[in-house]
Amino acid sequence: MPTSRTYHQSTSYDRNNMDRTVLDGQNQPMPYKIYPEMTPLHLPEIKDFYSGALSHVTGSDYTSSAQNSLIMEDIAKILYLANGLTGKSRQGASDFYFRSAPSAGALYPNEIYLVWSGSSELPSGVFHCGVFNRSLTPLREGNFVPVFQTGQDAIKSNPVAVFVVSGIFFRSAWKYRRRAYRYVLLDAGHVMENLRLAIRAAGKTCRVSYAFDDPDVNNLLGLDSEREVAIGFIQVYGNTSETDRPDHPQEIPVVEPLPESIRRSGRASDTEIRYQEILDIHLAGKHIVTPDTTPEDVLTRLGLSYVPFKSIDSPDEALPDTDPNSPLPYAKTVLIRRSRRNYISHPIRVNQVMFILNLISNVWQNLSGVAHGATSCLATGLLIGDVDGMAPGFYLLDAEKRFLNRVFEGDVIQKMAHVCLDQLWLANAGVHFLFLTNLDMIDRQWGARGYRYAMTLAGHMGHAVYLGATALGLGACGIGALYDSEARNLLGLNNESALVYLVAAGPVKRN
Ligand SMILES: Cc1cc2nc3c(=O)[nH]c(=O)nc-3n(C[C@H](O)[C@H](O)[C@H](O)COP(=O)(O)O)c2cc1C
Repeated sequence: MPTSRTYHQSTSYDRNNMDRTVLDGQNQPMPYKIYPEMTPLHLPEIKDFYSGALSHVTGSDYTSSAQNSLIMEDIAKILYLANGLTGKSRQGASDFYFRSAPSAGALYPNEIYLVWSGSSELPSGVFHCGVFNRSLTPLREGNFVPVFQTGQDAIKSNPVAVFVVSGIFFRSAWKYRRRAYRYVLLDAGHVMENLRLAIRAAGKTCRVSYAFDDPDVNNLLGLDSEREVAIGFIQVYGNTSETDRPDHPQEIPVVEPLPESIRRSGRASDTEIRYQEILDIHLAGKHIVTPDTTPEDVLTRLGLSYVPFKSIDSPDEALPDTDPNSPLPYAKTVLIRRSRRNYISHPIRVNQVMFILNLISNVWQNLSGVAHGATSCLATGLLIGDVDGMAPGFYLLDAEKRFLNRVFEGDVIQKMAHVCLDQLWLANAGVHFLFLTNLDMIDRQWGARGYRYAMTLAGHMGHAVYLGATALGLGACGIGALYDSEARNLLGLNNESALVYLVAAGPVKRN
């Protein structure tokens, strides 16, 4: 039975043993899911997006003004902000579309589904959300929201909708082969974070979950689970006042399998290759394991020693509203976000780094109830290069205490650029945000499902770096391509631990 550690280590990149097989351009998967036999419903036009500061929408003290239900215009906006088409480039004879969430290799393995309790505008049902034509394809009729009210989510609440994010393995495996499970999960974390923030910006209360019964949810969505699987979901609450909460759990409807024609729609290309390692690690994670004790703190399990450095809330480093570099508002930030690689050697200000660390800590706090304390499986590190007011070195964030610790001093940003498959432009980025875990610790506490938690959380937090940097007029770029054991050695991690994701940030050349 594979574990987080065996899968991660067996899909490591090694400088002396890289697979140089050329990509099969004829067989490139389509990044959109289409149901040829179904008629989609079109989402309404979006007149304007939500206002609100990024730090407000992401803040841990954010309060929603949720009324009864979402309206269709909210659904249109939420889906657009989550994974809409926000950029275009000409590739050969056709247009290629970029999205509001980044994706390794721009392969976009994730799909979104809406499970809807019903309103006067849209009857209850299960819908596939088409990001490319802003549509909903009805897959089932009826209220299946209670399916998500089982197990750990059987709380007294009144969800009106559930957004489910899935992953289609071959879309990423076409390029990344066995290693692709990493990217499908990291990308899913980015989409989930975009979804979560859009729901909050719409003024709704929501709850993220990665703990659910895989076969039940895959069956509900009509997925062929050898190709496509549900990864996480977000419940959206309506009026959550005490009097409106149902006293007894709503009845769970019988969920019949959907027709084969729907299940086949997850096919990504004519000649798909099945990577058994991916199916095996996903299946190994089907059990939801509850840790016996309070989850261990990953900061103490990486094999690093560190000394206290400083609070990330130092008042002298706050970003005043009058600052000409004050951050862009939330929606504008999401709509203009892109991966930027044209870094210039110009220092970042320390308060800009602190602003991004605050966003990461907010994500940590907002997700702290998810999947039995799974936020404690991921640590955020920082490689500081060119930052005004902070010595170069390796730092570790304690997201719970909102405090920064120092591991060592010295500029290793250039070395890290070599570790990242010699993507040398990374040497010019002032900061590398690092997402670190102890693979044995997550196996021990959450079983192989812990791997999903660590990788999706890295996506959530990496997204905070993208949005924070974009809002400050800086560039950001996610990096999944790295020589894994070189990264471990450079950072001084123990053998059980790994750098699972890196997001670089810094000033970039203006276009
Ligand atoms: C998980 C992940 C890993 C990535 N790895 C790399 C990488 O190693 N090198 C790189 O140049 N870009 C990397 N990217 C950036 C993607 O190439 C980029 O998101 C994609 O081309 C879409 O462009 P956009 O982000 O500008 O919308 C990564 C993005 C993600 C989300």
